[in-house]
Amino acid sequence: MANASGFFSPPVPRMRRNIQPSIGIFRSGFCFSEGNFRRVVCSSGIEGAEKHVSPSESRLPKLVSKGCKLVGCGSAVPALSVSNDDLAKIVDTSDQWISVRTGIRNRRVISGKESLKNLAVQAARKALEMADFDPNDLDLILMCTSTPEDLFGAAPQVQRELGCRKTPLAYDITAACSGFVLGLVSAACHIRGGGFHNVLVIGADGISRLVDWTDRGTCILFGDAAGAVLVQACDAEEDGLLSFDLHSDGEGGRHLGVPINDNKTSDLLGSNGSVLDFPPKRSSYSCIQMNGQEVFRFAVRCVPQSIESALGKAGLVAASIDWLLLHQANQRIIDAVATRLEFPQEKVISNLANYGNTSAASIPLALDEAVRSGKVKPGHTIATAGFGAGLTWGSAIIRWG
Ligand code: UT7
Repeated sequence: MANASGFFSPPVPRMRRNIQPSIGIFRSGFCFSEGNFRRVVCSSGIEGAEKHVSPSESRLPKLVSKGCKLVGCGSAVPALSVSNDDLAKIVDTSDQWISVRTGIRNRRVISGKESLKNLAVQAARKALEMADFDPNDLDLILMCTSTPEDLFGAAPQVQRELGCRKTPLAYDITAACSGFVLGLVSAACHIRGGGFHNVLVIGADGISRLVDWTDRGTCILFGDAAGAVLVQACDAEEDGLLSFDLHSDGEGGRHLGVPINDNKTSDLLGSNGSVLDFPPKRSSYSCIQMNGQEVFRFAVRCVPQSIESALGKAGLVAASIDWLLLHQANQRIIDAVATRLEFPQEKVISNLANYGNTSAASIPLALDEAVRSGKVKPGHTIATAGFGAGLTWGSAIIRWG
């Protein structure tokens, strides 16, 4: 059972899966056929001629197809828990309104000396520990976040904190609540097409820092958290990303965003006396701006379509999937999508009541709870989907373990 802090009783199986990264540059592509990716390596070299090429080229990968699998997960949440009743003391709302309209009862908020980076590092360490994996063997860290503590990127700092001596490539993916699904698919693409072997995908957000705490329409929804998954290269038969389906629509972006404030420039006079719009003043971002009803309509329309499309690409139907795990935004959205896809309630993973909408962290946080509580077992299939600002949305059919 999950407890309020998000960590659990049954011991977690430890799986030692440590694949050494290969070095070498190769040209490759991959194609999708009958639900499986087949990687095609194109090399100008002649088979068996390795002894005539340079040491790095001699280590060209031999695989012609490759899969990737999810082998470890972890999560971390801030200590401060804020209930609906707490919020009712600062805005005109009630526990009843929030729980009926959203399903949310509590959320965690970063406070004091806590940082998003530290939550991400904690989640990452737990994922690596579950897989019994040495951080020095990571060759890529993808930090999916829209709220980094340094706008130029958080991933390299996470790499440093994890103490990865081989300094693997580390960069951020900014796609709000779709971030984790995009990170997962990006990890697979790096593995299948780019020669990477051990990829840490972190979803972490501190949306509480962008919320207007006087706006009852948004402040009740969000919480802070981090979740992480270790994705590893494997043989095609063991592939754990069965299919995916991704979309963006900039037209709908106006319904949800954190735009930069319109800053006035200093009115500097040019040499001919004309006014120059220069230099720009230091800019800042606004708080979250959201048309909740539009986002709600978008989610219940587009998410089922996307999952159906991903299921079709994998050659599967909803009835054959073990779990539905959606971005945790609103229980009414989760219920509507489950009904549309005919997923029974007992196959739907939800921890929204405890944490609210934690943006890019919501899927790995819920996955981690479900794995550690023994709900999701190795071999189980999961239909997962993220959706949110951009607008972006997408789904993936994955197999755990
Ligand atoms: O990751 C994606 C992020 N965003 C989302 O997923 C948001 C999706 N949208 C939603 O979850 C819902 O639209 C909300 C929960 C944001 C709002 O629920 P709703 O059922 O769409 O409510 P509403 O905006 O239509 O507002 C209904 C009434 C309004 O009052 P009147 O005009 O009917 O008198 C609001 O002013 O509820 C009022 N209201 C509240 N009342 C008490 C809005 N927020 C609150 C509140 N407490 N916190």
